[in-house]
Amino acid sequence: MNGPPPPAIAVHGGAGALDDSGTSGLGPEAPREEGVGRAAAAAWEVLRGGGSALDAVVLAASILEDDPTFNAGTGATLTASGDVELDASLMYGPTLSAGAVACVKDVKNPILLARAVLERSGHLLLVGEGASGFAREMGIPAWPNGRLVIPQQRARFDAARGVKPAPVGGGTIGAVARDRAGHVAAATSTGGTFLKRPGRVGDSPVIGAGTYADDLLAAVSATGHGEPIIRITLARLVADLVGAGRSAPAAASEGIRILGERVGGQGGVIVVGPSGEPGFAYNTPAMARAWSDTAGTIRTAL
Ligand code: GLY
Repeated sequence: MNGPPPPAIAVHGGAGALDDSGTSGLGPEAPREEGVGRAAAAAWEVLRGGGSALDAVVLAASILEDDPTFNAGTGATLTASGDVELDASLMYGPTLSAGAVACVKDVKNPILLARAVLERSGHLLLVGEGASGFAREMGIPAWPNGRLVIPQQRARFDAARGVKPAPVGGGTIGAVARDRAGHVAAATSTGGTFLKRPGRVGDSPVIGAGTYADDLLAAVSATGHGEPIIRITLARLVADLVGAGRSAPAAASEGIRILGERVGGQGGVIVVGPSGEPGFAYNTPAMARAWSDTAGTIRTAL
C-alpha cells in the first residue's frame, strides 16, 4: 500500500545569466550551486525530523540571505543611491497566512522579519521605516546597511556609474516545501534589480507574484525581472495550474511560457505541489536550484 508522499524541498538561487552579467554580479557559478545545495540540505533535515514546511523554507531562505553569493541579505545588489534595500515574503499553505516586508535597509535577515509580520503584526506587508520599527519591537536588532554591502557589489556599482543597465532581478533566492503533514510553504527574498530606484518594489514581497502557498494548490517561489512577474501574478498563476491538474513541472513550464509570451518577462519558478514532486522552469540561461528526490537525496543544477 502506498503511504503519504514524502516531504519535499526545492530551493532556487535566482534566474539569470551564466556569467556575472545578469545575476548577483559575483562571477563563478559553482558557489551558487553549492549554496543552494547547502540550504536545501539544511531544510531537508527539518522536514525529515517532522518539522513544518514553514520552518524549512525560512531556514533555507535565511541561509541563502547570509550567503554573499546571492542577491538577498548580505551581498545584495545596490540601488541607484548606492545602498541596499531588501524585500522578502513568506506564505503558509494550511492557513493562507502570509507576511512580507519591502524596502528594508537595516535588517540582516528580512525573511525572519517577514515571519514576524506573519505571526505577530496583525498585518501582511510592512515597508521601509515602519518595517524597521516593527523589527526593533520584535527584538530583531538593527543591522548597519554597510554590513549588507560586500566589496564586489560596491565595485560593480562603481563600474556602472553613468550606465543604465538592463533591469535584471537575478540572484533572488526562494524555497518551497511540503512537510510530512501535507502542508506547503513558500519563501522568497531579494535585493531587487541592480541600480533600482530607491523605493522600487519588485515581485518578491508581493503575495501572488513572487510567492504563493495553498495546501489545495501548491507552493511557488518566483525569480527574475519583477515588474512583468507582478503583471501576470506568476506565483498564483502557477499554483492555479497545479490546482487545475497540471503536474508541478508542467505548471512551471506553462507559467514561464506565459511570462515570456504575454509580457516579455524573464525569470523562473520553483514549485512543490500536493504530491511533493518538484517543478522548475526558467527562460533565462540559468537558474541555480536544489531539490530533494524521492529518496531524500539533495540534487543540484544550474
Ligand atoms: N525578482 C526580484 C525583483 O525584481 O525585485
